[in-house]
Amino acid sequence: MSMRIGLIGCGNISDIYLVNAARFRDIEIVACADLRAEAAERKAAKYGIEATSVDRLLAQGDIDIVLNLTVPAAHAEVSLAALEGGKHVYCEKPLATTVADGAAIVEAARAKGLRVGCAPDTVLGASVQEARRQIDAGAIGRPLLGLAAVLSHGMEHWHPDPTFFFKPGGGPVFDMGPYYLSTLVNLLGPVALIQANGQIGFTTRTVTTEGSPMLGQAIRVETLTTVQALLSFESGAQVTFLASWDVWNHGLRPIELHGTEGSLRVPDPNWFGGELEIARERGDWAKTRTADHVLGAANWPAGRPEHANYRGAGLAEMARAIAEGRPHRANGDVALHVLAVMAAIIEAAISGRSVEVSQRCTRPSFLGEDEAASLIA
Ligand SMILES: NC(=O)c1ccc[n+]([C@@H]2O[C@H](COP(=O)([O-])OP(=O)(O)OC[C@H]3O[C@@H](n4cnc5c(N)ncnc54)[C@H](O)[C@@H]3O)[C@@H](O)[C@H]2O)c1
Repeated sequence: MSMRIGLIGCGNISDIYLVNAARFRDIEIVACADLRAEAAERKAAKYGIEATSVDRLLAQGDIDIVLNLTVPAAHAEVSLAALEGGKHVYCEKPLATTVADGAAIVEAARAKGLRVGCAPDTVLGASVQEARRQIDAGAIGRPLLGLAAVLSHGMEHWHPDPTFFFKPGGGPVFDMGPYYLSTLVNLLGPVALIQANGQIGFTTRTVTTEGSPMLGQAIRVETLTTVQALLSFESGAQVTFLASWDVWNHGLRPIELHGTEGSLRVPDPNWFGGELEIARERGDWAKTRTADHVLGAANWPAGRPEHANYRGAGLAEMARAIAEGRPHRANGDVALHVLAVMAAIIEAAISGRSVEVSQRCTRPSFLGEDEAASLIA
């Protein structure tokens, strides 16, 4: 039987969840709410679900899981309220904007015997899971070092209200970092120590998003928009992580890992699919396509699909895990660890000191093709 989902936060990202919910066997989005009632009413009309208020949704007895798609600054408040109301919660990334808030969410869930799930679930996608399978099978030997890079010139040219991207809890580390860091944690295990440098490349950002009510407005930048961090993993692997919204153009791969026997290139972890490349010792790069994997075929945007976008897979897998009484993969412990890594990166960059990451997690288990297929309706 499907779990009944109540969605809070009817903004930009909610459409993909509302579209994809029908793909998955274990979830049904039945109601939505937003601080802006008209936003909830628009989504409800478009997807044939009920629009309600946040308070009513939280009090609704027939909702099993709250899907929290609010802005990062509201994640903790909404997730804690959902848990307080006796509901499991699945939140967009980041889990919260501070480690204390993230820990409070994980602790509240534990105390009540409820689940916390958190994006990104792209780590359950075909490309990261294939990379995981290859690493676990020893394709590159023992991972030694690597480079992860997410570089662009910001968000003010496409998002209708890009303010939150440039405030504490935003920036490229908190906004895009979760994709890269969750991928690295799934592939290599938890991070132990961080060293970093950082800067604010531009003190203000001007909104250029066409049609945005904020067009032409300047946003004051209050968080680092460039960091260069060195992540030391428990396993002994060392990965350089570059995250910037101050870069116009570049030629770096999203993630490249080098082991004792070979090298691995992982495609953009913001999507579920893409081409993996593996080179053994001095051999050439060999490509592995994941387009024929369950969560790897391009499906987005509808009509002219370019990317595999199965957002909601982590929520569906959590619903299945609850029913089966086993741990889920895109879980609160991983999200809290990733949040602690992000906070440590900012702290290390600002203080100039190495920062240990005390909140650790275990690597979620591998998601095989058969199990991925079983999630699909
Ligand atoms: N936009 C994307 O492409 C994208 C991609 C991946 C993840 N995300 C993540 O999804 C989340 C939402 O991003 P978005 O782009 O949809 O933002 P958005 O600003 O478009 O939408 C957020 C919505 O949440 C509502 N909201 C804010 N605080 C609330 C509260 N306390 N209670 C109820 N509703 C509240 C707002 O009114 C708004 O409608 C963020 O955590 C972001 O990091 C966004």
